[in-house]
Amino acid sequence: MKIRRSLLCLYFIITFIGCNKNHNYTGAVSSGHPEATKIGIQVLENGGNAIDASIAVQLALAVCLPNAGNIGGGGFMICRMEDGQAYALDFREKAPKKAFKNMYLDDNNQIIDSLSTYGSLSVGIPGTIDGIFEAHKKLGSIDIDILFNYAIQLAEIGFPITKRQADKLNYYQQDFIKYNPKNNYLQNDKWQEYDTLKQLDLANTLKIIRDKGCDGFYKGEVAESIIETISENGIITLEDLEDYKSIWRNPINLNFSNYKLISMPPPSSGGIALSQLIMMLSNFDIDSISHNSVDYIHLLSEIEKRVYADRSIYLGDNDYFDVPTEKLLNFDYNKKRALEINTQYATPSNQISHGQLNYKESEETTHFSIIDKDGNAVSVTTTLNTNYGSKVFVNNRGFLLNNEMDDFSSKPGEPNTYGLIGSYANEIEPEKRMLSSMTPTIIEKNNNLFLVLGSPGGSTIITSVFQTILNLILFDMDIQSAVDMPRFHHQWKPDNIYIEKELYSDSLLQILSNMGHKIITRNNIGHVNAVVYENNITSVGADKRGDNFGLIVK
Ligand code: DON
Repeated sequence: MKIRRSLLCLYFIITFIGCNKNHNYTGAVSSGHPEATKIGIQVLENGGNAIDASIAVQLALAVCLPNAGNIGGGGFMICRMEDGQAYALDFREKAPKKAFKNMYLDDNNQIIDSLSTYGSLSVGIPGTIDGIFEAHKKLGSIDIDILFNYAIQLAEIGFPITKRQADKLNYYQQDFIKYNPKNNYLQNDKWQEYDTLKQLDLANTLKIIRDKGCDGFYKGEVAESIIETISENGIITLEDLEDYKSIWRNPINLNFSNYKLISMPPPSSGGIALSQLIMMLSNFDIDSISHNSVDYIHLLSEIEKRVYADRSIYLGDNDYFDVPTEKLLNFDYNKKRALEINTQYATPSNQISHGQLNYKESEETTHFSIIDKDGNAVSVTTTLNTNYGSKVFVNNRGFLLNNEMDDFSSKPGEPNTYGLIGSYANEIEPEKRMLSSMTPTIIEKNNNLFLVLGSPGGSTIITSVFQTILNLILFDMDIQSAVDMPRFHHQWKPDNIYIEKELYSDSLLQILSNMGHKIITRNNIGHVNAVVYENNITSVGADKRGDNFGLIVK
């Protein structure tokens, strides 16, 4: 109770109570696959820092989680080093130079089915490899070749796939064949749990990149293979690849009570949206509201609707569209939006629009969280977008290309794969980065490292991260429970509350329907991987929803 009241009532009052200087960090990794987590732990045990471990984990996930882990995709990293300095690295994909606004529309201005989600035209310029080298150059501590070798060995020796992976690989076989008639490296009549997945082409590609550096991917034979693969109807050129650069950005910071949020700025909507959610919630006294109750689901859904309505209009790549960050993070603006909420009845989404800013004054992505023995922390969310991305395998190179172009708004008001609506702010332009929901986040408590977390889940990423933070901070749960708790999600349009089956009951449906909500049950909402450090104890929360796996250095 006390904790909850302090979070909401003392908003703005940043209290640094008892800042602890004597730390006893223990390294920990939580990721989407046990093989990747084990590799991260080995790096930490062998003297690497959290950045080194994150590079090895990212590369390992490209091998052992091919539906999401990647070298042909992109992502975002938030890190906070032991001196308290925080960084945000944007290695998000970009639109090719030849991309144009209406590239997914037919002559009648209608969206052409699947063009932005399958095949060569859906591919954005990959950013992962540049991100890895950039992170290592600035903050890494051990030889990068060593970090590549873990993944190379995993690809060469192979690893036993999980039941979920076997099911997923079988499910997508027809797509693999359709988009890769000659080059289906994941082909198998029937994958079974514990089958060994060896990827020799991928091992060779990783060796080329290890030996030649970043140019090993963006220039020369691997780059040429990418262009050759997409040559039939793709528009990416060698110049697009050569010109790709990841970008260090200023993280989004929000102080609330004795916490400080550090999260991803545009081109991700994650940091801004998460901050708005927290700010709007801080206008309500939720001491009397119990966890996942009708009132809780109603209040959070109403807040979420308003935040996602703002997202649809105001958020895009800040290098191409002037995102009104300061105004969206203004407490009074969010208070005004929050006070429009009726605590008894749902406001239909059609009656909710983005807020008026005062301009006069002017499944599948993957997340991993790491801390090391010195208290450096890394939070990375990385993706091909949907499962196995564009489904296009680069000829003989053993890796998949993303379908991230679908994260742009192909047409104002038309939903993308995740049902998200966009507009001018996120329309396609050459070399622009598509808007993301990925929300790698770190939270400080009393100035000290406290929580590292993030999630896959497309549009549900932001709400999954939000609810996990509340579970921990407001409801005092341990991290594994906070991560595992059933979740719900509202994204303004469509006007539905998505509720995980575990949380559903007929009576909940009845009461929420009477309040004006439409309820849809879903399987999994997000897969959170988190590490917490408090009172000199490190603990991990690896979401029970997937093959997620957390370990602590012994
Ligand atoms: O950047 C984004 O928001 C999406 N491309 C993320 C996709 C995702 O999380 C899929 N995972 N289930």
